[in-house]
Amino acid sequence: MPKWSCLQWGGTDMEFIDNREDIFPDLRVNIGSLEIANPVMTASGTFGYAREFENLMNLHRLGAVIVKGISLHPRPGNPPPRIVETACGMLNAIGLQNVGVDRFISEKMDYLAGLNIPVIVNILGDSLAEYREITERLAGVPGVAGIEVNISCPNVKKGGVAFGTDPSMAAAVTKAVKESADVPVMVKLSPNVSDIPLVARAVEDGGADSISLINTLIGMAIDLKTRDRSVPTTKKQCCLCNVCSLIFNRRDASCYKVIDQTGIQIRSGLYRFETIRQ
Ligand SMILES: Cc1cc2nc3c(=O)[nH]c(=O)nc-3n(C[C@H](O)[C@H](O)[C@H](O)COP(=O)(O)O)c2cc1C
Repeated sequence: MPKWSCLQWGGTDMEFIDNREDIFPDLRVNIGSLEIANPVMTASGTFGYAREFENLMNLHRLGAVIVKGISLHPRPGNPPPRIVETACGMLNAIGLQNVGVDRFISEKMDYLAGLNIPVIVNILGDSLAEYREITERLAGVPGVAGIEVNISCPNVKKGGVAFGTDPSMAAAVTKAVKESADVPVMVKLSPNVSDIPLVARAVEDGGADSISLINTLIGMAIDLKTRDRSVPTTKKQCCLCNVCSLIFNRRDASCYKVIDQTGIQIRSGLYRFETIRQ
């Protein structure tokens, strides 16, 4: 190990340190059966397909990148305005805009695979068959290290009730994805349920390798002067908003260190430049 390696941290007064562990502690964690080099991941939808951030940060420092949710076919999402900043965070009603699984594989995966960090693909569907089909298309694609299943989506065949709010449907989606996947499967739970452990146990029974907590909380911003809602309310999805963002800086992230083997997704916090820099 060359002694000057510590200068990569950029300090001018740094002493030369012989023991690499003193400055580069082992931060590896296991997310189910997937081992990542450090616990920091980007939450789906807040980081695009990673390339958008290449000039803002060193992408290689991430433990893993979780990409924007991918559906079977491209989706245009909701018309703007679809995000609004509030005093305690940001509300969003994107409507799951994405390029679809085929374009994701042909246009985005080469770049992502070249980053040499685990790429976890967030997937979403309107039916069990769609979840299965997307997973099958991702099987064997170089660079895909894991699948994160967004179950906060309406099951169109069952009257539009979100998969994630019904434990048996959540288990069924998990099973369908597990049967078709050749990489570890993480299931992302919705907080908008009355008993989240029940859903967690259901997806565990369905074969999930790990769970991801949590998807967007339902929220709404209201201008007290005008009594206007700050997000469009003509569409049902517009109420699916996050009310507060928990991780903005190193101190916030440190709070999670007390939990062993826990990954951290930097989520809406990524919209602050300071968070990216830290
Ligand atoms: C603009 C935006 C887009 C998002 N898109 C997705 C998505 O495609 N799939 C998904 O599972 N979660 C998506 N999310 C949810 C985030 O990954 C995260 O779970 C949520 O924002 C809660 O974390 P926070 O309170 O720190 O923001 C999105 C969130 C935002 C703000």
